[in-house]
Amino acid sequence: MTTKTTRTLRPRTLSVRAGTARSGFSETSEAIFMNSGFVYGSAEEAEQSFDGTLDRMVYSRFKNPTVAMFEDRLAAVEGAEACRATGSGMAAVHAALVCQLKAGDRVVAPRALFGSCTWIINDLLPRFGISAHFVDGTDLDQWKQALSQPTAVVFLETPSNPTLEIIDLPAVAELAHQAGARVVVDNVFATPILQSPLALGADVVVYSATKHIDGQGRCLGGAILGSHEFCNDVLGPYLRHTGPALSPFNAWVLLKGLETLDLRVERHCANALAVARFLESRPEIEKVIYPGLGSHPQHELAKSQMRGFGGIVAFHLKGGKAAAYSLLNGLEVVDISNNLGDSKSLACHPWTTTHQRLAPEAKLAQGIGEGLIRLSVGLEDAQDLIDDLALALKKGI
Ligand SMILES: Cc1ncc(COP(=O)(O)O)c(C=O)c1O
Repeated sequence: MTTKTTRTLRPRTLSVRAGTARSGFSETSEAIFMNSGFVYGSAEEAEQSFDGTLDRMVYSRFKNPTVAMFEDRLAAVEGAEACRATGSGMAAVHAALVCQLKAGDRVVAPRALFGSCTWIINDLLPRFGISAHFVDGTDLDQWKQALSQPTAVVFLETPSNPTLEIIDLPAVAELAHQAGARVVVDNVFATPILQSPLALGADVVVYSATKHIDGQGRCLGGAILGSHEFCNDVLGPYLRHTGPALSPFNAWVLLKGLETLDLRVERHCANALAVARFLESRPEIEKVIYPGLGSHPQHELAKSQMRGFGGIVAFHLKGGKAAAYSLLNGLEVVDISNNLGDSKSLACHPWTTTHQRLAPEAKLAQGIGEGLIRLSVGLEDAQDLIDDLALALKKGI
C-alpha cells in the first residue's frame, strides 16, 4: 500500500486506501493500466520474469497493475491473505471449485443456491466424475450426515439467493473440516462489510463484484479470496492457464466502488429493513423473508454471524404468479431486473427468471414459489420505495 504509515488501519480506511500503487506520475486516483503486455529491458530480464527469479508484470492474463490494486484492496477489506479477480461472479465460482476438484471427488452444498451455482455443481461437475450431494442448509443434522464421509469441497451461500436462508457457518465449517473439505462461501448477499466468512471458519470466499462492490450497474466482475497457499498454488495456475481475467477498466470501476461500499451498504440495510417492515404489515403478502426481521427463522443466527442484514428482501404474495406479475408491472420507481446490489431498487420473479431452468420441484424444494418476489432495495428514499410498493399493491386489487 502506498501510505506513509506503519499503523494498523481500520476497514473503512482500507476500503479507500489499501492497494493504491501510484505510477511515476503521482496521480491521486488510481491509474487504469489498459495494456495486455509488458516490455523487458533485455532477453535475460524476460527469461527471469518467466522462471520466477524476477517478480514483475508479465502479461495481463496473469497480473495487471490496476487489477492488482483491486485485488489488494479487497483482500485488505476482507481480512484475507490474498485475492484473485475474475471477469464475473460466475467465473469466480467456477474457478474456485474447478481449480481444486478432480474426478472421484465429492461436493456438498445446500439446495438453496443461485441458479447458475446449482448448474455448475449439479450439471457440470458430474460430467467430470465429481459427485454432488445437496442438503437443507438450515438443518445441521443433514450437514452432519452428508459430511460423515470424505468430501473435497463444501460450497454455500449465506444468506442464499433468493430465499435468504442463513447457514450456521462455524458449525458447518467444523463438520466440513472433519470430512477433509475446504469450505467455499459465496458472500454476495452479505458483502465484506456485513460478514467475514474466513473469520467464521471458511477457507475461501467468492464474490460477484458485479453486485454491491460495483453497486451502480456498470460492469461485471468477480473475486476469490483465501490464503496465499490457496490463491498462489491451487488457484493461481488454473487462472493463469484458463484466463477468466478481469478487464483493467472494470477493475478500476470496482476499485472505486470499494471506496463507497461501506456507506452504500449501510443505506441498503436501513432501507431494506424499512421496506421489509412495511411489507410485513400488508394483507396481500403471505410472508416476508428478511434476516433482520424477528419473524425470520434464523434471525438470531444472522445476528450472531452478520454485522447487518443486507439489502435484499424476498416476499411471497398471496395470489401466486398473477399477483407477482401484477405487482412487478405496477411498479413505477422500482425497476424489473434480475440484477441486485445496485443503487437502484430492482425487483424480479425468481420462478420465471433467475431460477427458471430448475424443475418446479427443485424450485419448491428451495422455497421458491410462484408468488415469490426478490427485491434488491436500493439507495433511494425509503419512503418513495414504500409508496411505490403500496401503489403497485393497490393496482393489483
Ligand atoms: C449469489 C450469487 N453468486 C454468483 C452470482 C454470479 O455473478 P455474476 O453475475 O457477476 O457472474 C450471482 C449473480 O446474480 C449471485 O447472486
